[in-house]
Amino acid sequence: MNEITKSGIITSIKKVSHPSFDVNHITLNSIKKLESENGRLIIELSIPIAADASKQLIPLFIDAIKKDYSELTDVNVNLQARTSETVSTHKDPKKDAILPGVKNTIAVASGKGGVGKSTIAVNLAVALAKDGAKVGLIDADVYGPSIPMMLGITDKPKVYQAENSVKIIPLEKYGIKLISIGLLVDDNAPVIWRGPMASGAVKQFMTDVDWGELDYLIFDLPPGTGDIQLTLVQTIPLTGAVVVTTPQEVSLIDARKAFRMFERVNVPVLGIVENMSYFVAPDTGKKYDIFGSGGGSKMAEQYNAFFLGGIPIDPKVREGGDKGVPIVYDISVSDQANIMMDIAHNLAEQVNKRNLQKSDTIEIIMGEDD
Ligand SMILES: Nc1ncnc2c1ncn2[C@@H]1O[C@H](COP(=O)(O)OP(=O)(O)OP(=O)(O)O)[C@@H](O)[C@H]1O
Ligand SMILES: [Mg+2]
Repeated sequence: MNEITKSGIITSIKKVSHPSFDVNHITLNSIKKLESENGRLIIELSIPIAADASKQLIPLFIDAIKKDYSELTDVNVNLQARTSETVSTHKDPKKDAILPGVKNTIAVASGKGGVGKSTIAVNLAVALAKDGAKVGLIDADVYGPSIPMMLGITDKPKVYQAENSVKIIPLEKYGIKLISIGLLVDDNAPVIWRGPMASGAVKQFMTDVDWGELDYLIFDLPPGTGDIQLTLVQTIPLTGAVVVTTPQEVSLIDARKAFRMFERVNVPVLGIVENMSYFVAPDTGKKYDIFGSGGGSKMAEQYNAFFLGGIPIDPKVREGGDKGVPIVYDISVSDQANIMMDIAHNLAEQVNKRNLQKSDTIEIIMGEDD
């Protein structure tokens, strides 16, 4: 009979091939518990992987182990998906210290206004939280904040005096933490921010809000490539950006500008989302490409970026935004909710891949000590 050891089990599960599973990041440390008795094996694994992929991996791991250890009659795998962390490459300790408990920071951007950034930022945040991640959302559109409305929030965040500064406690809804200038200023007061003031507000959202531990902090940006975008990339080492576009050329021209801006400042574009991709008439089921078709995926191809998915035009998406209930919150409501979930899974996978690429040596060295 084969003796069951941690390294033997590692060898078995390394034989599994799955697009989201990188064998280089499985080490002896990945096994948190191993118990075997009378043909029964119970293992607990912790690996850096997008939460959604872990469900698909469990049966594959079980098969691989059973193949190598035919005497096992019952294999039980408890898989903890661990959100991987962005490894900072700029080596600026001041920037790294700003959001110490936050593993990944993602900006949702577009060149053009009104293409659905806020809708997508809100739904991605809620979708990732539904998968079990700890998620925060910063409404960085200080000129026209829409997050409070899209999440149906009117409460004012509480503030407390910390050791040597004032701290803001983020609000919570649908399982996510959030902050928006819309919650801090009077609804009817005109938000006439000069550039530096607006940038100051976004900076404050990063430095003075008590975010605690987060897997993802998502920024809903204003349109364009202005002060706020610049402040963000200069203040923290962003994990990456999601660029939102609609399929027509006028939107794509601006999306390309946004793409190039991130490239110039060395922020990776994690993927492109095409919003308002098509419309399906509810009475006939016929599909209409109102703004043309395929612009987003073509752009992704052109720039060698990942196409995260396309969202059709659907009044339910807009109603969800107006009513303060993001469509993804209840996936039984519509196909669009499932599309949003898929986009969130794709995004988590892209974040994970990028983090693992950058952290190869670190993870492997950490694994040697067991
Ligand atoms: N797929 C969709 N189907 C129907 N309506 C949508 C869709 N995506 C977004 N909308 C609606 O379009 C409007 C604009 O969307 P949103 O506010 O998210 O865009 P934005 O890019 O954040 O705009 P801004 O540049 O002003 O910040 C909203 O009323 C929203 O509910
Ligand atoms: Mg917006």
